[in-house]
Amino acid sequence: MSNRIELIQSGIEGLDAILGGGFPLGWVIVIAGGPGSGKTTLATQFVVQGCLKGEPGILVTMNEPRSHVLTTMSNFGWDLEFFEREELLTILDYSATNVLYSIHKQGMKDGGPSLNFMIDQLQDTIDSTGAIRLMIDPLNAFSFLFKDNFSMRRELHKFFGMLAGRKTVSLATLELGSSEEAFTVEEFLAYGVVRIYHKKIGRNRERSIEVIKMRGLNQEQSTFPFEIGPQGCRVYESSDTFDY
Ligand SMILES: Nc1ncnc2c1ncn2[C@@H]1O[C@H](COP(=O)(O)OP(=O)(O)OP(=O)(O)O)[C@@H](O)[C@H]1O
Ligand SMILES: [Mg+2]
Repeated sequence: MSNRIELIQSGIEGLDAILGGGFPLGWVIVIAGGPGSGKTTLATQFVVQGCLKGEPGILVTMNEPRSHVLTTMSNFGWDLEFFEREELLTILDYSATNVLYSIHKQGMKDGGPSLNFMIDQLQDTIDSTGAIRLMIDPLNAFSFLFKDNFSMRRELHKFFGMLAGRKTVSLATLELGSSEEAFTVEEFLAYGVVRIYHKKIGRNRERSIEVIKMRGLNQEQSTFPFEIGPQGCRVYESSDTFDY
């Protein structure tokens, strides 16, 4: 058996180069950033790029309802319903109005049957579709379900283990507050961490991206310009004119 890390190219312009080739198969990678930084767009684009190559994928949406995801992503020219019809995409909608709400309502701060239902459904969907690319948006919605840090670490560890064992590449978005040097439990537990910044420079805000960790890989150690445009995300590999 080979111990070599198998890389899945994201297909997002400029991103694979700064990752050291792509996202490793079997890993959970946290995509962290502030509000509007581009987390959902990047993670969805990763799954869409797979669908375009005939690779099945799953979008797990925890905050935004399915209808909203379909509309916002169609702005980038991504017809998610088309991929669903082609059986290349499954959207699991756990947004606040249904499953997560019922977990809270039942007061199951430690998870409980609704959480197990959610994880079982995801597991079954991975197995039945053969999905390789997954996105979970945002992971915070999952972490918030636990009453203490210990329960959260234990359950996240189990959850990441389930995803790793199924040979998926899972991008889990993470909502961050303002501090750049404060790292979260989710980031320590994940195998890889990418952070997107959306900083105020004078009167404008500019986006940039940094690969914080990719265990066992030789990723770039710098911060690179990152843009969202009509076709989605793009990373500019040259940081020459960039002083962050
Ligand atoms: N066609 C476009 N061209 C340029 N920028 C766009 C376009 N569409 C969306 N954006 C930018 O992308 C941002 C939203 O990105 P996205 O939803 O991926 O961020 P997020 O980090 O997931 O935000 P949140 O924390 O609210 O979930 C918008 O605020 C907007 O600035
Ligand atoms: Mg988002």
